[in-house]
Amino acid sequence: MILVTGGAGYIGSHIVVELLEAGHQVVIIDNLSNSDQSVINRIKLITKKQALFYQGDVRDSALLTSIFKKHNVSAVIHCAGLKAVGESVVQPLAYYDTNVYGTICLCNAMNKAGIKRLIFSSSATVYGLEATPPYLEVTERGSSCSPYGSSKAIVEKILEDLNVSDPQWSIVILRYFNPIGAHPSGRIGESPQGVPNNLMPYISQVAAGLLPELLIYGNDYPTVDGTCVRDYLHVMDLAQGHRMALKKLSDTGISYYNLGTGKGVSVKEMVDAFVEATGVAVPYQFAPRREGDLAAFWASAEKARLELGWQAQKSLKDMMVDTWRWQVASTSES
Ligand code: NAD
Ligand code: WQD
Repeated sequence: MILVTGGAGYIGSHIVVELLEAGHQVVIIDNLSNSDQSVINRIKLITKKQALFYQGDVRDSALLTSIFKKHNVSAVIHCAGLKAVGESVVQPLAYYDTNVYGTICLCNAMNKAGIKRLIFSSSATVYGLEATPPYLEVTERGSSCSPYGSSKAIVEKILEDLNVSDPQWSIVILRYFNPIGAHPSGRIGESPQGVPNNLMPYISQVAAGLLPELLIYGNDYPTVDGTCVRDYLHVMDLAQGHRMALKKLSDTGISYYNLGTGKGVSVKEMVDAFVEATGVAVPYQFAPRREGDLAAFWASAEKARLELGWQAQKSLKDMMVDTWRWQVASTSES
């Protein structure tokens, strides 16, 4: 049985689908602070299998201990956390509390239960401001642009120290680049609360007529067309990366993998790809640069390919089509 923390969230729910479909049993803990319980039933509609669900907080040590007592958990995938970069600047304590203290609580409870196999949702943001793309796993963590980024870097360091203190731990740190898209069924996807901060949900809400136009932040960067470049990957590819990383947990020690496609795509190219894939217009305007944005970064995805046998399979068109299917389905429901 695999415990997925944050398993009702955007990435966690796709990981749960991937695991159930591969024959794993899954238990989820999620406090639903950024998700909805209906996701659990949607996962069942997709997979015809039931994930066990506990509504609760990863900082609730008693709850974690009781879950570990009740279920034969062999490994934990830790996705629960707060993720909005801008909000983290305004509420740093909340971010350190959930992301850092939450992980400490989880590891303590795992230690007590003798479960020492963990996959952690980290982020390309840990490479910081100075790294040059493509980012390699050996690149040192850099200075962070936000408390959110620092919270991920701090957790990575804590997990390294934990592994030094007790080499029986097996820890895989997955550094996600820019996950987008949705399950091809259109039943689960990303549901940002309020106005989206991230590009893909913003594009799809403009296309759906929920927002008037996209503001493209900056067209004077030293990139192919002046707009920022990122490494966007399909959330189902990302989910598959977790399933493949589970195998790595049979070795003790700590390892790091980038999960990205290895290719950079500009904001303007993203808009064009969406319009081409869906036939739906996305009005946009250029606006000043957004504070804290880096001009361009993408992953080296070689280590994951060589050691996990993982490689992103889905195309940019798949990402656009699946995002749009989910957008249409979720707009018509609300
Ligand atoms: P999400 O907000 O959709 O999912 C996180 C889930 O964790 C939510 O369901 C939320 O209710 C739950 N949660 C939050 N605090 C909790 C707590 N204290 N106890 C229990 N559950 C809690 O976000 P996501 O995009 O699915 O991200 C999942 C993980 O991946 C996060 O750790 C995030 O930092 C990391 N990540 C995300 C991205 C991205 O672009 N989405 C990129 C890199 C890393
Ligand atoms: C992508 C590009 C924007 C919105 C963030 C976090 C990172 C990770 C993923 C968790 C940028 C541009 C965006 C808009 C725009 N999350 N943009 N108009 O900033 O690469 O990464 O999410 O770990 O930590 O920082 O992703 O989707 O916000 O932006 O022009 O309305 O789209 O300027 O160039 P980002 P994003």
